[in-house]
Amino acid sequence: MTELTKIVIPVAGLGTRVLPASKVIPKEMLTVVDKPVIQYVVEEAVAAGFREIILVTRPIKKAIESHFEPQTELEETLLAKGKIEQLAMVSDILPRGVRISTAFQDEPLGLGHAVLCAAELIGDDDFAVSLPDVLIFNPDGDHAQDLKNIVAAFQQNHAAQIMVERVPDDQVSSYGIVDCGGARFETGVSHNVVAMVEKPSVDAAPSNQSIIGRYILPSRTLELLRQTRPGAGGEIQLTDAINALIGETPVQANGMYGRTYDCGSKLGYLLANINFGLRHPEIGTDLANWLRQQEF
Ligand code: G1P
Repeated sequence: MTELTKIVIPVAGLGTRVLPASKVIPKEMLTVVDKPVIQYVVEEAVAAGFREIILVTRPIKKAIESHFEPQTELEETLLAKGKIEQLAMVSDILPRGVRISTAFQDEPLGLGHAVLCAAELIGDDDFAVSLPDVLIFNPDGDHAQDLKNIVAAFQQNHAAQIMVERVPDDQVSSYGIVDCGGARFETGVSHNVVAMVEKPSVDAAPSNQSIIGRYILPSRTLELLRQTRPGAGGEIQLTDAINALIGETPVQANGMYGRTYDCGSKLGYLLANINFGLRHPEIGTDLANWLRQQEF
């Protein structure tokens, strides 16, 4: 095992589910209350100890990288106007010692292909993958708790970690699904995975435990990805490469405490705004009062 410092965040997707909003603005830059979705995902990664954020992007989505770079003119203006709180909001997004690097994915050939595009930056290291559509909300307030848990489980159990959440039958075919041989899931506990299936029909699905998009993987995964042929949807699937890993090394699924919001979908995005909005120190109370007064 190598030190776990790198996390790959694939952001090259077209955002077809949230058009026309994502025509010019990358879907990862849409705001949940007052921060772009990608900032939540990067903050979660940093809180879990990752120091090298690898964005797999497309040149047209430059706004994502720019969001994490210094904006000198804005910062100087805020300083001159004495707007210190606002200055901190834009200048302190990344703590010292955290680096963002980019790799490019020119064609939408699947999640597995996106991760392969980062191969050079990953090198021989074990690494994490975090999907930026998915926001994790933890009622206890530490939204990085689940990611911290799987990092710890990876180090303790010497096993790849896949974060999972139970979904109803009608959503099973939208996700990768794990087969843990009928294990009864408890939150925060990792179970050995027997197999994984990408987007099965509900009849063929081995369980209702869906892969939510947080993975901790050994470096060997990259070699297996190179050998992975197109699978579900004609795309190179990360799920298939991890499936091949199962025969060689333990792979575990970890039941999460928090719940997810799929900000790549209209409803998930709206629900994330309401939920994070209700907990926001500035607007939470007013939003709750307004919601109570509505007649639906
Ligand atoms: C990807 C993964 C899938 C996972 C999902 C979570 O699918 O391939 O296993 O369940 O993310 O959002 P996508 O949504 O990119 O089609």
